Amino acid sequence: MKDYSKILRRVIKKITPSPEEKRNLNSIVRRCLQVAKKEAKKFKAKPMVAGSVTRDTWLPGKKEFDLFLLFQPNIKIERLEKYGLEIGKNIIKKLKGSFRIEYAQHPYVSGSVEGIEIDIVPCFNVKTAEELKSAVDRTPFHVKYLKKNLPLRLSNQVRLLKQFLTANNMYGADAKTEGFSGYVCELLIVKYKSFVNVLREAQKWRPGEIIDIEGFYEKEDYQKLRKSFWKQILILIDPTDRRRNTAAALS
Ligand code: CTP
Ligand code: CA
Repeated sequence: MKDYSKILRRVIKKITPSPEEKRNLNSIVRRCLQVAKKEAKKFKAKPMVAGSVTRDTWLPGKKEFDLFLLFQPNIKIERLEKYGLEIGKNIIKKLKGSFRIEYAQHPYVSGSVEGIEIDIVPCFNVKTAEELKSAVDRTPFHVKYLKKNLPLRLSNQVRLLKQFLTANNMYGADAKTEGFSGYVCELLIVKYKSFVNVLREAQKWRPGEIIDIEGFYEKEDYQKLRKSFWKQILILIDPTDRRRNTAAALS
């Protein structure tokens, strides 16, 4: 096996945000969370930062992060949506930013503060993945899972994988790219521990490949599993929800 360590070190240097850039983003994240705690409390909700800023796996130039608002699971959906918008607007106003309303699973506030975009997304704070009420409810589980299972020393390996995929137009689960999401990259590093290892293992993947990090399924069930994820080229079982293929968007 060739020794790639020298070139990988050089690339890592280029794709790691500078201390200043990290300080900048993290400072807005911190201030936002502080304000959000107060504003959310008025509606018995709790804020949680999500996505790559929570695990230091973002690439330089990233100017956005997501703030989730976790509401009590028995709240009526109309209220969750109404309060979610109200909290979101209040947070952005307090941070002296501007905002607009966007529509996804639920309407949400997308704010801009000092050049950083903040999406403030309401969700139900369900106890287990079995009780999910909407797709966004999974995200807090992802945050917790990666906190526990993706050690910070592997952040650079995630960055290498994201950059490699970006350079080859394969980064992103959006309809145009049909590629690998950030969460999928993180899970692949949890599983294979290094960027080079992901490439090495990927050579062995076949259509309908199953990667089941938490070992939810027995090998005897794999044929059945492939049928339930019919035509999905890579089946990377969500370690926080055995019913979901995190790589479903991949073409
Ligand atoms: N998410 C998901 N499935 C997707 C997209 C997003 O489950 N197809 C959830 C994941 O929990 C992810 C979070 O939403 O961690 C934030 O997604 P996003 O901002 O798109 O990506 P990041 O992981 O933050 O990566 P990036 O560095 O590109 O922002
Ligand atoms: Ca993100």
